[in-house]
Amino acid sequence: MNELRDLELMLDSRSPLIIVETLEEQRLLRICLQISMKSIRPFYRWSITEGVRPLGIDVEADADTMDPASILRHIKLSAQAGVYILLDFHPYLTDAVHVRLIKEIAQQRESMNKTLLFVSHAFPIPAEVKHFCATFELILPNQAQIKNIINEEIKAWSQRNQGARLKADRDALDKLANNLGGISVTHVRRLVRHAIEDDNAITHSDLPELMRAKHMLMSHDGIIHFEYDTARFADVAGLATLKAWLEKRKPALLGKSSRIDQPKGIMLLGVQGCGKSLVAKAVAGQFGLPLLRLDFASLYGKYYGETEKNLAQALQVAEVMAPCVLWMDELEKGIAPSGTDEGLSRRVLGSLLSWMAERKSPVFVVATSNDITQLPPELVRKGRLDEIFFVDLPDEDNRRRIFSIHLRQRNLAPGGFGLQQLAQHSEGFSGSEIEQLVVSGLYAGAAGQLDTAILLAEIERTRPLSVVMQEQIASLRQWAASRTVTAH
Ligand SMILES: Nc1ncnc2c1ncn2[C@@H]1O[C@H](COP(=O)(O)OP(=O)(O)OP(=O)(O)O)[C@@H](O)[C@H]1O
Ligand SMILES: [Mg+2]
Repeated sequence: MNELRDLELMLDSRSPLIIVETLEEQRLLRICLQISMKSIRPFYRWSITEGVRPLGIDVEADADTMDPASILRHIKLSAQAGVYILLDFHPYLTDAVHVRLIKEIAQQRESMNKTLLFVSHAFPIPAEVKHFCATFELILPNQAQIKNIINEEIKAWSQRNQGARLKADRDALDKLANNLGGISVTHVRRLVRHAIEDDNAITHSDLPELMRAKHMLMSHDGIIHFEYDTARFADVAGLATLKAWLEKRKPALLGKSSRIDQPKGIMLLGVQGCGKSLVAKAVAGQFGLPLLRLDFASLYGKYYGETEKNLAQALQVAEVMAPCVLWMDELEKGIAPSGTDEGLSRRVLGSLLSWMAERKSPVFVVATSNDITQLPPELVRKGRLDEIFFVDLPDEDNRRRIFSIHLRQRNLAPGGFGLQQLAQHSEGFSGSEIEQLVVSGLYAGAAGQLDTAILLAEIERTRPLSVVMQEQIASLRQWAASRTVTAH
């Protein structure tokens, strides 16, 4: 593949701004890392959550360059040549100051060898800087490249198996290469690896399953959705016990340890809006695993009559994509939906339970629920999943962190706010309600100005759910106390 060479040439060209629209950020970063090793210019990566740091080196982020305006100023003022990879910068393009700074950096190009490389799933180029931009595309692999990937995977299998020869049917190999077009290199590799590993061979019997997995990956109306929107642990305030628990299982989660201690998954139970769904996204994002969401609503709706068959197929897709995170959001609604007949939801539960017991692939389930009392006891029983975590309302310290995260995500420096005071006054607010305060505060202030006083006024105006639902939360806590581990 010549992507590396092409990008290298583009970086050496006169274009100061390079745009890459891709869903394969990790792959792009790997290519950049390879280029950087040969380059005399230093490479840096920046994201809103991690700030700027040298590419490929894990150091603490510099707190002064976290927000978009400061990183751009930092780049502009730097007297050094360099390549700056800006991850997910697209939300900040609406700010005139940012666009102006990007233009000023681009204008330095004649005298100073600096390149900005923007990497996002989509990047609307502002008219002011269009003439400075070049776009680079990570290509979907063509047939010859798919064949290469297949050969590489066969070779890798052979190396793992003391040089054994893989049983591979020539005709099946050709069909495989023909049929894996239209999806990314990463996905091709995963599908091929799975086809090899399930029976240590590539034969015709692999094809139907692969095709279905590919089809479901590409179609958007399946009951299993590929979620592009993931998060990182840094986006989640608090929940230290849960994060540590997950970190400890990282190698096993990545499918890198023996299958015996394969983690099965977790259930997150807790108060609404305190970050359960966010954690599911963060597990995938933090460990670089694909996030698949099982959509119970369409399981029961669209495919009525074929529900169990479709569930079985969806679970199989998850196995093909392993290692991956399978997110079952609001499980109680999926297992005990109102309006469906009792028999059907029993059978769905049965299929789900037996899959959980029998599955061999590293599919890590993250199930969330607000009301575990609605869930059948056999699902909650220890052993099906590894642990049930209780996610409670954030304490003062974590409310401060949540304010800080959400201000920063909206490009406001948390240092300019009375975080301590805000945290003290927002007792009983969930993470989601705090985020909402920031959002509505931005509308309340003139021309999007936001300050501590506006936020305090928003707090006054809001009656958090925990007040309205005081009794329910108390009984949830009581239920959880003896049955769950606290996530905090
Ligand atoms: N601990 C937290 N740290 C940072 N942000 C948070 C936290 N908790 C909640 N939020 C914010 O609130 C939003 C909503 O939270 P989330 O959807 O994860 O809650 P939930 O527990 O799944 O709620 P529900 O029970 O209603 O599904 C998140 O996307 C995030 O922006
Ligand atoms: Mg949720």
